[in-house]
Parts: sequence; structure tokens; C-alpha cells
Amino acid sequence: MIKIAVLPGDGIGPEIINESLKVIESVSEKIDIKFEHTFCDVGAIAIDKYNNPLPDETLKICKESDAILFGAIGHPRFDNNPKLKVRPEQGLLKLRKELGLYANLRPVKSYKELLSLSPLKKNIIEDVDMLIVRELTGGLYFGEKKSDNNFSSDLCTYTVKEIERVTSVAIDFAKKRRNKITLVDKANVLETSRLWRKTVQEISLKHPEVQLNYMFIDNAAMQIILNPKQFDVILTENLFGDIISDEASVIGGSIGILSSASIGESMGLFEPIHGSFPQATNKNIANPVAAILSVSMMLNYLNLGNGAKMIEKAVENSLINKVSTADINDISPSKTSEVGDYISNFIRENN
Ligand code: IPM
Ligand code: MG
Repeated sequence: MIKIAVLPGDGIGPEIINESLKVIESVSEKIDIKFEHTFCDVGAIAIDKYNNPLPDETLKICKESDAILFGAIGHPRFDNNPKLKVRPEQGLLKLRKELGLYANLRPVKSYKELLSLSPLKKNIIEDVDMLIVRELTGGLYFGEKKSDNNFSSDLCTYTVKEIERVTSVAIDFAKKRRNKITLVDKANVLETSRLWRKTVQEISLKHPEVQLNYMFIDNAAMQIILNPKQFDVILTENLFGDIISDEASVIGGSIGILSSASIGESMGLFEPIHGSFPQATNKNIANPVAAILSVSMMLNYLNLGNGAKMIEKAVENSLINKVSTADINDISPSKTSEVGDYISNFIRENN
């Protein structure tokens, strides 16, 4: 029995999570492993109920689980009011910190069927296959914060240990892929970036088969859309990784298909990269593929790679047969629930 904490969160979160649960159900039958789900509140919905974006009960259940499946977080009523002290996003940040989820993995690849959807030219994006490894519990996000009427500051700090552990994750993945890491930083200006370079350089000496390159963040932001094929694993700090992973999502054609994993010493959280998409809430139009592919990342993490492959194959088949929501198929779009049904039935019937 595998225990999953399910945190649907806000906006379209509950709808897309519902589809991923259908997919877990069909994989569970095929690989003959039982999953137990415990639903918990997080984000704006938890603020409404408890005035706390991460209630203690949610954190407790997460800690007792084997993995966490996360939907989306955020609500527009918080976005344009800088005075609010309690915000939905704090729930996710606290969860990352409390569970020590220091490495965020964001794979970006281009699917043949979707090449025409990207505003980028086909010859630039075809065959792109990169993995962004973003440090997730340090840097500007978690440094000391100060604010009064005329002054604010966010401190960017990194320790050698924080850099080392996420670098090991990047190296492990590079070895399973094309043996290339690009460290993205701003070492011509920032002390923290220079510490990153020094630390990553030292570690890389022990792994001569992995080629290490460096790129400044401003240049990387340009290279990602100019020549994305050059990248295999991108290793970077928290804020830079946040920014370039949204940028890189343009390569895939829709942010609705990109999944992510946040892992630490003993826990993994799996979530789509997209946000809560409030305009689409309860309309059954949101793309569930990112959430479904997050389940496949979760199964890989749980050493159930055969189940993960079933999901990937089924998703590819849905793309080939154009059983997709309007962000991908605006001519004859399927509903969120139809895509989930198709993918879970495909798994049942083809394995
Ligand atoms: C992400 C999101 C979060 C982040 C927000 C919701 C706090 O943008 O996961 O990329 O900035 O890390
Ligand atoms: Mg982001």
C-alpha cells in the first residue's frame, strides 16, 4: 500500500487532480499495487477555512505519506493586494521548506504532434529534451526579509551544503541522460553565484564523464529560445530557475503539459508547472496532462517505472489522436474529464 497525500489546492487544481486520480486507479489495477489517498487543504481554500495556507494537519499528513500529489495554488483576490500578510503561495513555500524538498525537476521536451503550437520555429524546437534542476529551498525566496515604509530587502544566501546536495541530484540525472550540465548563474556580479561556480566545479572534478558548462542567466534566457537543443541538464538557483522554467515551457507548446517533481532526502512532491488558472475554474476545460504526467514522475520516484511508462505512452497516444483540451486542440477540443477518461482507459486496454 502506497500512501499519497493529495493536495488539490485552488482554481483548476481539484479538476486536474481528479483526472490524475483516475489514471492512478487504472495503473494500480495493471501493476497490482494499492494506493491510499488522503485529501488535504492547502492555499487559498485553506486560508478561507483556517486562515492558514498550510494547516498543521496537512503538513502532518504529508510527512506521514510516501509522496504528495499537488494541484495548483493561488487566487486573484490576493495577487494585487501587496498589503495582505497571509497569502496562498506561503503554503507551498512552507511545505517545500518543512519537507526539505530542495531539488525541483522540470523536464521540457517538444512533442512531434505539438511542434506547430509553439510560437518558436519548428527547426529550433524539434528534438529538444532538457531537464531544469532548480534549487528550491534557498536563495532570495527564503533569505531574511525586511520591510518598512521606505525600504525593503530580500536577502540572497546559499551555503556550500545547499549547493552540493542539489548538484548531486543534477549529476545523477545528467549521467542517466546526455552527460552535460549547464550551470546558470550571474557569477560576474553576485557572490552567491561565485560560490555556486566554485562548489559545482569542485564536485564536477569527481565526475569527469559529465561535461560542465557555465552560462550567465541573461544569456541563458536568450539561448533557451534561440538554441534550446544545446541544453541537457540546466542547474540553477531558486529564482533563476523559477523564471527560466516558465520561459522554457513555451518550447513544449503549452504550459498545460509540463509536470514537475520536488524532491528531498525522504519525500517527493509532484505538481504541474502551471498555476491555478482561475478563469477556467469549474469549466471542465483545463488541460489535465501536466497533472497526469506528474503522476508518472511520482511513479518513477516510487520505483514503479513500469507504471510511469504506461502513463507516458497513453499521454502520447492522446496527443497523436488529438484527444486534447482547447490549449492544444482548438478545432475539436475535448473536455478535461474526457482527456482523463481517454488516458485512463488507454492504460486499462493496452497493458
Ligand atoms: C513555481 C511557482 C511558485 C514559485 C509560486 C507559486 C510561489 O511560481 O512553482 O514555479 O515561485 O516557486
Ligand atoms: Mg514559477
